[in-house]
Amino acid sequence: MQAATRRGTLYSLGSVNADFQVRVEARPGSAETLQAHHFTRLSGGKAANVAFLARKLGHEVHLLGCVGRDDLASQALDALVAAGVDVEGVARVPGPTGTAMIAVPPDGKKHILLATNANDAWSEQAADAARQRIESAAPPALLAIDCEIPAPIVARALDAAAARALPVVLDPSFADRVDPAWLPRLLAITPNLEEAAQLGGVDPQDRDAAVRAARRLRAGGTPLVFVKLPDGGCLFECGDGGALIEAPPVEVVDATGAGDAFTAALAVALLEEQPPIEAARFAVACSTCAVRGYGSQPSYPDRDEVELVAAAVHAKAGDGADAPWAR
Ligand code: RIB
Repeated sequence: MQAATRRGTLYSLGSVNADFQVRVEARPGSAETLQAHHFTRLSGGKAANVAFLARKLGHEVHLLGCVGRDDLASQALDALVAAGVDVEGVARVPGPTGTAMIAVPPDGKKHILLATNANDAWSEQAADAARQRIESAAPPALLAIDCEIPAPIVARALDAAAARALPVVLDPSFADRVDPAWLPRLLAITPNLEEAAQLGGVDPQDRDAAVRAARRLRAGGTPLVFVKLPDGGCLFECGDGGALIEAPPVEVVDATGAGDAFTAALAVALLEEQPPIEAARFAVACSTCAVRGYGSQPSYPDRDEVELVAAAVHAKAGDGADAPWAR
């Protein structure tokens, strides 16, 4: 059953993939053939995952992306259509649909091989259509973007969002596609620890890497920085200081798509004008729910489940060297 529609529209721009997923008993990496089980084919891609969860949380959602003219396109899109996501803004381009091969070891820390395919094959026509859709967004609306698409497409979307005064949440994955000139044009950015360290120019192994990286991203011009931490929590930085949001303990079955759940929930909460600290709690609760099941979209929660988990998500507020997480 589709969720009732709440006020506010989300535009989700980025990767749309066909995911092929298996469980393995050891981390891939050796030259040996690994035996795998629990094979499943799913809809995936960061923008698709964000769109799916935002719709499940009750908003009108428009997905903007590219798929190929092949049978994998329906694997990527059918679950979204069934959930009520508008996929009219997904263009068909020559070549194969984006494909992710995902292996999930017992600790749930997934290993992904991504062939971006159509996600990197935007036509001029597709780019222009996406621009027009963003420019015609009726407020309240918010644009979520990931970087598994070419940087010039992201840049054009940021121009279109600016023309419409649309707030933007950026998931900077792939981090090497991010132009620092984008930072002042964003409302929020949601890197994981490695991406934050790469963008902030700090060593991810440093004890306070997340804090220093988040502050550098803030200094670069993004008002709200949310660094997704490996334990499922997040570090939040804004002009008034920051907070460490701790995830409740949970058995991790599969971390695939948990970061996308975080970005989707954060975008939804900001679209609903929740205070940023509450948005962070909501996002941590969503990503916590998302690691409890196998596969990305099939494990995404509804509002009731998120609210149950959110009650166990704690925020430690603080600032500067006195911040509890900076010690
Ligand atoms: O974040 C998980 C997603 O990353 C997968 O669905 C896969 O398609 C890749 O884009």
